[in-house]
Amino acid sequence: MENSVKSLLYLGVCLSAWSITTADETSAPAAQDVHWVSLDFKTILRWTAEPSDHRYTVYYAENHGDWVESRDCIRISESECDLTDHIKALDRTFSADIRTEPEDYDNDVDDYPHTYSPQFNPYKESNISAADFAVEALDNGKVMVNITDPLTGLHDRGRQLSIRDIFKNNLKYKTSYYKSGSTGKRDFIADSSQAEVPDLDVGDSYCFMVAAFFPTRPKATQQGAWSKQLCTKGQWNILQDLSVGTWVGIVFVLLAVLIAIIVVSVLCCRHSRQRNKTFQTAQSSSPI
Ligand SMILES: *[C@@H]1O[C@H](CO)[C@@H](O)[C@H](O)[C@H]1NC(C)=O
Ligand SMILES: *[C@@H]1O[C@H](CO)[C@@H](O)[C@H](O)[C@H]1NC(C)=O
Repeated sequence: MENSVKSLLYLGVCLSAWSITTADETSAPAAQDVHWVSLDFKTILRWTAEPSDHRYTVYYAENHGDWVESRDCIRISESECDLTDHIKALDRTFSADIRTEPEDYDNDVDDYPHTYSPQFNPYKESNISAADFAVEALDNGKVMVNITDPLTGLHDRGRQLSIRDIFKNNLKYKTSYYKSGSTGKRDFIADSSQAEVPDLDVGDSYCFMVAAFFPTRPKATQQGAWSKQLCTKGQWNILQDLSVGTWVGIVFVLLAVLIAIIVVSVLCCRHSRQRNKTFQTAQSSSPI
């Protein structure tokens, strides 16, 4: 009898201890869906978490080395951390570790949840935005494409770096172009930010789009975003640009005007001939 009471007591103690630990675990949410968002080397680590009073501290490591505390993301309540200045545009593999900590953090207790990020190589994987550019038709069947290198989120001694500063000779530009009114697109790859697209028909209008192109990167990130489209003016541009509907309208208006002229002139002739006739009869019937 005494034994069974004892074991019941033990069971109760165990159960309550178990419920305390599980309550503790559920109230310390781990970071979820950890992912890198990186555009022009401005690189932010993002995650989601259930709302709570807990804080997050972000550690990062380069090429599987030691974990380093990210100095701007210590015990933060937000669910993102800007790592731009730590990982820059380095051609190395970075990982991050997001550790959940309670508000009143006790260094001795080290069993709070944490989540590793996927690996990320900024040099190979940062997205590159669309470039601004200008086109100018030269008179020898070439078009000059003049591209402004997009700026990055990185600075060197106060100067904002462009993607040319980062990639140097590994930056090419892809120009995609087609003759106005035709569907056949052609590509042209240039080593520099100023390029002449050759072999175009003189006097015709062409449309161009450009994108940064990195032959040394993996296929998935080899190309930056496409720019908007720019067209050169052909010699017959205005007439070519008119739609079929506009042409039908113009012909219709011309026909209407022609018919109006014919009708008016026929009516006028008849009227004046009649007037002449009445004048003549009036003259002949008058007594001399
Ligand atoms: C780059 O852009 C693609 C397409 O928008 C997106 O799916 C991807 O997550 C982006 N990568 C980074 C590192 O921001
Ligand atoms: C290209 O554009 C830059 C700035 O937009 C300008 O300074 C330069 O003169 C242009 N070059 C040519 C060849 O058009």
